[in-house]
Amino acid sequence: MWGGRFASGPAEIMEEINASIGFDKRLAPQDIRGSLAHVAMLGRTGILPPADVAAIEAGLKTVQAEIEAGSFTFARALEDIHMNVESRLREIVGPAAGRLHTARSRNDQVATDMRLWVRDTLDALDAQAADLQRALAEAALRHAGTVMPGFTHLQSAQPVTFGHHLLAYVEMLGRDRGRFRDARARLNECPLGAAALAGTSFPIDRHDTARALGFDRPTANSLDSVADRDFALEALAAAAIAAVHLSRFAEEIVIWTSAQFGFVRLSDRFTTGSSIMPQKRNPDAAELVRAKAGRVIGALSGLLIVMKGLPLAYSKDMQEDKEGTFDALQTLSLCLAAMAGMVRDLEPVPEVLKQAAGAGYATATDLADWLVRELGLPFRDAHHVTGRLVGLASARGVGLEALTLPEMQAEEPRITDAVYAVLGVENSVASRTSYGGTAPGNVRAQAERWLEALGGE
Ligand code: ARG
Repeated sequence: MWGGRFASGPAEIMEEINASIGFDKRLAPQDIRGSLAHVAMLGRTGILPPADVAAIEAGLKTVQAEIEAGSFTFARALEDIHMNVESRLREIVGPAAGRLHTARSRNDQVATDMRLWVRDTLDALDAQAADLQRALAEAALRHAGTVMPGFTHLQSAQPVTFGHHLLAYVEMLGRDRGRFRDARARLNECPLGAAALAGTSFPIDRHDTARALGFDRPTANSLDSVADRDFALEALAAAAIAAVHLSRFAEEIVIWTSAQFGFVRLSDRFTTGSSIMPQKRNPDAAELVRAKAGRVIGALSGLLIVMKGLPLAYSKDMQEDKEGTFDALQTLSLCLAAMAGMVRDLEPVPEVLKQAAGAGYATATDLADWLVRELGLPFRDAHHVTGRLVGLASARGVGLEALTLPEMQAEEPRITDAVYAVLGVENSVASRTSYGGTAPGNVRAQAERWLEALGGE
């Protein structure tokens, strides 16, 4: 491969540790796209004669067709996708193929290929996240008024609506998508033409290749162009945060589908059985989404650690950017699809949710607020009165609404029977009309706002 300087080939184990073709062959479409842009530019600038450009272009298209047809033979001895493509090009077009690598190195080539792959993948993830948002917002609209318990510390806190809970994830996904787009905007500079590390003495036109490949501009520093992978790190960081969001929702699905909670039902399409326990309906897809977040986070830490000690410019260490990045972004894609499927499948059980919403004295804050609003008590005093009433009800094993008016008046004589209205969970959620609060009207408006915004995409 290296010609003149080398008298013998590599040791078997050298070839094995060195080769990346096993995983970078997936960059073939990006590699060929980059080469087509490069050779066209070499022609336009007069660096290569038109005949060579035409031969190379035709040859690259043949290689592309062979790869697409599955008839291309990838050789480990040729190390990576770049050398595999070039070697086959030489078989097809002869010595002219050797001119393709003028004013280019595999260092700027691989940096370009990876940026193109990450860019395409971020776009696809953005679209998938939008689809999950749509599924969530549609369900939120249907369940804007379906009361469920809201938790803090996984203890009953205050009633909320199922729609409100789902919209919380729509907001998170909205920020995830913002991060995908930010990462995309920053990565969209073209390293091609940085060559090995110092640029080139040929009169290339880097603006031309950047434009042809859909980049906003060429990168400004040749060393930086071949030496950094922050674009992959940033995509992985955005992916890791999104995976954590999905994992938290998955965890809630696991909890909600348990017999003890019974808040929601998943159909047979999204559950599995047990080989021994006939009653089991396991939420495996949710569990796997929860677990796969670990892989995505692992890929981010893995690449951060690969990069942290590297002197400029390129080091072979950077070949290790690929498997983790490919795996993590594909994993996130699978998780987004699985979550969208589950959300569309998920049916809340309103009776169970409503009953649970009232358990655990979830309307105690409503009682305290009533004492403040109607009787003018300072909130701290109202908190104490309410606490004593909760203690009384709890000692008797009943809900707040089961206390009699005289019992309540024993704690605070000015309480009237109007207080019972705020002890119901429906009233509680209906009263939370502050901006961003859980009142069904708010939830409906937010769901509609999202659906409208998502509809245009
Ligand atoms: N397969 C290599 C990689 O992924 C391509 C760049 C090789 N460059 C080099 N100087 N050996 O990083």
